[in-house]
Amino acid sequence: MTLTGSAQITGVIGWPVAHSWSPKVHGFWLDEFGINGAYIPMAVRPDVLALALSALPALGIRGVNITIPHKEKALEMVDEADDLAHKIGAVNTISVEKNGQLLGTNTDAYGFIQNLRSNAQRWSVRKPALVLGAGGASRAVCAALIDADVPEVRVCNRTFSRAETLAGDLAGPITAIDWFDRVQASTDVGLLVNTTNLGMVGQTALDMPLTKLPPSAVVTDIVYSPLITPLLENARKRGNVVVDGLGMLLHQAEPGFAEWYGRIPKVSAALRDYVLGQENGS
Ligand code: ATR
Repeated sequence: MTLTGSAQITGVIGWPVAHSWSPKVHGFWLDEFGINGAYIPMAVRPDVLALALSALPALGIRGVNITIPHKEKALEMVDEADDLAHKIGAVNTISVEKNGQLLGTNTDAYGFIQNLRSNAQRWSVRKPALVLGAGGASRAVCAALIDADVPEVRVCNRTFSRAETLAGDLAGPITAIDWFDRVQASTDVGLLVNTTNLGMVGQTALDMPLTKLPPSAVVTDIVYSPLITPLLENARKRGNVVVDGLGMLLHQAEPGFAEWYGRIPKVSAALRDYVLGQENGS
């Protein structure tokens, strides 16, 4: 696509950034709406993150996504961040206001819950949820589940103290669970979520026996490469509804695009096919 002088520029800041799928997602929507704009990858080293962010208003950039490893640092660098970003401890979306102020938010929680709502209509929010892992991704997932009024969120992490810290930081019905009790903790849940990086291409599989998991429980994984992780494969084999992690990635992009370009984008099958097709080299 050829840009004109009035093109509205947005993008994603990360280091490295080449792995990011966001340019494909936003590029698809820009084409779909016929918007005169571009979403560009910006490889920014950690030592110049503050410089890069402070330059956004001067460059006329409308907004950016923030990805690994900058999400936590970006929270400290924006002029204002909303409550959710503070709770999660990370910013993944920044809007540049007309007065040059940088407003930060976190759309990972939105992406997570929208993915479940779109792909697991039978998910019962009235039952406890078991969340494996207590890193940054887990914080967004737990914030989303509390916001959805899940009665109890059990956070189970290899390093127990991290689960305790998370439970303390996010006000709400969160219980820290010892890693060795994860199977027992799954007996009465309506949802099981993997937020660890286990099961990702190049990583070992997550060791999570599903022997006690109710057949009605929904199982989801924030890992999306492979799309069907060993956890999801095992859950599917025993008849649980499974939701892959790609939907979270696609849905978390929606609020930023809507804010920057004033159009409400859709996570469609066509978008999914486009992103997956490109990943496969087609
Ligand atoms: P992110 O911000 O993407 O969530 P992170 O903060 O590095 O990444 O968190 C990774 C999560 O995967 C953590 O919960 C980590 O457990 P620890 O807090 O004990 O490190 C979990 N994790 C990584 N490798 C693991 C393993 N081999 N077994 C169990 N959990 C593991």
